[in-house]
Amino acid sequence: MDHQEIMTRLQEEFGRQYGSADGAELWFAPGRVNLIGEHTDYNGGHVFPCAITIGTYALVRKREDGLLRYTSLNQDPGRVYEKKISDIEAYTPEDGWTNYANGMIKAMQDNGYPVTFGFDAVIYGNIPVGSGLSSSASLLTLIGVILRAFNGIDVTNEKIAWLGQYTENHYIGVQSGIMDEFAIAMGKKDHAIYLDTATLNFTYAPIDLSGYKLMIMNTNKKRGLHDSKYNERVAECTRALHDLQKELNLATLGALSPEEFDQVSYLIEDPVCRKRARHAVYENDRTKRAVEALNKGDLQAFGDLMNESHLSLRDDYEVTGIELDTLAQTAWMVDGVIGARMTGAGFGGCAIAIVKDEAVERFTKKIVDTYTKEIGYAPSVYAAEIGDGPGRIG
Ligand code: GLA
Repeated sequence: MDHQEIMTRLQEEFGRQYGSADGAELWFAPGRVNLIGEHTDYNGGHVFPCAITIGTYALVRKREDGLLRYTSLNQDPGRVYEKKISDIEAYTPEDGWTNYANGMIKAMQDNGYPVTFGFDAVIYGNIPVGSGLSSSASLLTLIGVILRAFNGIDVTNEKIAWLGQYTENHYIGVQSGIMDEFAIAMGKKDHAIYLDTATLNFTYAPIDLSGYKLMIMNTNKKRGLHDSKYNERVAECTRALHDLQKELNLATLGALSPEEFDQVSYLIEDPVCRKRARHAVYENDRTKRAVEALNKGDLQAFGDLMNESHLSLRDDYEVTGIELDTLAQTAWMVDGVIGARMTGAGFGGCAIAIVKDEAVERFTKKIVDTYTKEIGYAPSVYAAEIGDGPGRIG
């Protein structure tokens, strides 16, 4: 669906559920892909994500009475969730997907940003849920910027990203880092964000892909971070850090270079935790080198580091699985592929590849054929575009 079709569908549903759509506003927040720097953001390392042009739309109208009404075109369609702002306390299974929106309100209230005005909303997302392209961070950020406007709250996009992470950590129960929300809240067309998650210092890096496409390969294997081993990986890294801190004055794993890590890694007692920490440290270093390579215009060096990143996520971090490995390994064999790796948390979800324009057709066919044969169902393969952050669009 293009923008106009989305607007029409949202207006129809708005009219059906809440009466006329007069005075309703259209808002959008993107999804994201991470180019490199995976599972480094809760280890004080660097990440290099970008916002993409698919994301989450909301047609919303402010209410004066502190009531929230939500419905979605793609999650429990036809069902309207209602909640009073004053009744929001904690994650509630019956609230379904609206827990993300309620959680964002709670996060704002907890952190000194009072929310009094509610809204009627119809939501539509064109990021497949559970695909690792951050549909949940997109929804969180979208609600954040809408609440800011409706309640006249003085809060920056960086802080909204932080509030999104706070929601994930404290309301949803996923110990995620800040990458997804930051990439979405701070997204900029044709740029990736080089973010140091230890300090939240960041720079924009122009991504000039003329002659190439950034391809997304979706395993179509669904997973939520709740039911994945995500929190287990966070805990393994924390344990590794604690072991190191017994002897060293160290704030995060991201503070170590690979050479320093190799000298002290014997301090980490559990060999599994040692492998996890090795990934975090080496991936952080790879991310720094990848951005340097890109700044020098060396796209092939960038692609080689993407491939190394996937191998480390497969062997040391163990978050890839047969589906993502099949996608990456198939991509590596296609002529014209500069680099390919899983993106996001892993355990299913999506992989990405940088592919020469003239190889895109061949690449797509090879991926679809091989994956379908090996896994038993088809992947989705399409080109991504790097887009802007959230805002009102109509
Ligand atoms: C998920 C989390 C992020 C990050 C990635 C892995 O997307 O939400 O914070 O940890 O996984 O890099």
